[in-house]
Amino acid sequence: MYVCICNRYRYNDLRHLAVGGTRSAEEAYSVLGNGPQCGRCLQFPQALMHEVGASPEAKSATA
Ligand code: FES
Repeated sequence: MYVCICNRYRYNDLRHLAVGGTRSAEEAYSVLGNGPQCGRCLQFPQALMHEVGASPEAKSATA
């Protein structure tokens, strides 16, 4: 599923980065190659980064 139409970033790409420790949408987009274009998509990846970062799995991976 595409999350960002402008850059063709998929949910799985963003989730992979979130599990790896990325904690902001802007950082994730930078790693993937292009920053935000229109910005309409940013709310979802930002929520994903927070959700994954707050999970017990993520906390144990960074401890
Ligand atoms: S849809 Fe992601 S920047 Fe436009």
